[in-house]
Amino acid sequence: MAGVRIGIPKERRAGERRVAVSVDMVKKLSAMGVSVAIESGAGTNAALSDAELADAGAEISGDVANVLGQADVVLKVRGLLGAGDEGPDEMAMMNSGGVLVGLLDPYGERPRIDDYASRGVTAFAMEFIPRISRAQPMDALSSQSNIAGYKAAVVAATVFGRIFPMMMTAAGTIAPARVLVLGAGVAGLQAIATARRLGGVISAFDVRPAVKEQVESLGARFIEVPTDEDEGGEDLGGYAKEMSADYQRRQADLIHETLKKTDIVITTALIPGKPAPRLITEAMLDDMRAGSVVVDLAVEAGGNCAGSQPNQTTTRGGVTIVGPVNLPAQVAIDTSALYARNLLSFLSLIINQENGELAIDWEDEIISGALLTRDGAVVHPNLVSD
Ligand code: NAI
Repeated sequence: MAGVRIGIPKERRAGERRVAVSVDMVKKLSAMGVSVAIESGAGTNAALSDAELADAGAEISGDVANVLGQADVVLKVRGLLGAGDEGPDEMAMMNSGGVLVGLLDPYGERPRIDDYASRGVTAFAMEFIPRISRAQPMDALSSQSNIAGYKAAVVAATVFGRIFPMMMTAAGTIAPARVLVLGAGVAGLQAIATARRLGGVISAFDVRPAVKEQVESLGARFIEVPTDEDEGGEDLGGYAKEMSADYQRRQADLIHETLKKTDIVITTALIPGKPAPRLITEAMLDDMRAGSVVVDLAVEAGGNCAGSQPNQTTTRGGVTIVGPVNLPAQVAIDTSALYARNLLSFLSLIINQENGELAIDWEDEIISGALLTRDGAVVHPNLVSD
C-alpha cells in the first residue's frame, strides 16, 4: 500500500509558536495508511514533544530538507521561507509537484504565491476555504480568530489600570468598565463574550446589520448607524464591503461620541484583501479619557486605530494603544490543536480514506476555493488579474 507521505516542518517565522500537527492528527492519518514525517522540535512551543508524536506513529527527522523534499503533502501554519528570508530556503527544499497546505496569506504574500507556482507546488490557502456549512470543520480563520478575540479582551484587561466588573465594597463602589468592540465577526463576538464574562458593560458596532442579533444575544448593545437607503455592508460571500463616504461619516460621528464614554476599545474590523478601515482617528483619541485602552487586532492590515503599531504598546494623551500581532501564536497549545483539526478535515477531502492515496476532486468547490496554484500557474480568481 502506498499511502501519501506528509511532511510537517518547524515554523520558523519570528513569534510563530504554533505547529501544523496534533497527536490526534498523527494517529488518524497513520490509521489511514498515511506516513507522517515531522521535523524534530516542531511541536515544542505548542507543548508537543517528539516522543509523543513518535508514539502516535510519526517519524521524527532532524533534517528539514528531508521532511520537505520527501513529502507529497506539506502542512504548515504559515508560508514557506524563500531565498530572501532569514532561515533555510524551504521553498527550494520543497518537492516540486508537492502539495502545500497552510495559512499562506494570499493577499499579503503575493510574490511568494508566484514562487509556489513557478516551483510547481500545488498550494492551498486555508484562508480561502469557502465559508459554507460543509467546510465549517476546516474553517481555520474562525478557529484562530475566535481565540484571538478572547485573547484581545484578556490583553485589554491586563493593560487597563482599572478592573472590569462593578464592585460595591466597604471602601466604595467601582463602576464597571465600558467596552466598545468595533467589528463583530468571529474575533469581535468572542471579544464581546470574554469582556462580558470579565464584568464589563459592552457595546459593539459592525457594518453588517446581520450581526445585531448575535451581538445582543451576548448581552451587548448594538450601535446602529442610521441609514436612509439599503446600505447593508455585506457582499455576496457574507464579508464586509467598503462603505460609501457618507455612511463612513455618519459612522465616524457615532463612534466618536461613543468613545468619549468608553474605557476599552477592541477593534477587529477587516475587509478581505483591502487595508483595514480606519475607525479611530487622532481627533477621537484626543477626546478619550486618560486611562483608556485600545487593542487594535487589525494592526497587521494597517490598523483600525490611528497610531497603532505592530507589536507595540504606545500612549497618546493618556490613552494606551496596543497593536498585538498574531495573538493566536500566544496560545499555541490550543490554537495548534484546533488548526490541526481544520487541516485534518481538509486532508480527508484530498486523501482517499481507504488506501491513503491522494485523490483530489478539482471540481469540489472547497478545493477550487482554496486552490492558489496548480501546474505552474497561479489559478485563484482573486489573484489572477484581468
Ligand atoms: P473579518 O475578520 O473579515 O472582519 C471582522 C469584522 O469586521 C466583520 O464582522 C466585518 O463585517 C467587520 N467590519 C469590516 N469593516 C468594518 C467597518 N468599517 N466598521 C465596522 N466593522 C467592520 O470577518 P470574519 O470574522 O472572518 O467573518 C466574515 C464573515 O464570514 C461573517 O459574515 C461571518 O458571519 C461569516 N462566517 C461564516 C461562517 C460559516 O461557516 N458560515 C463561519 C465564520 C464566519
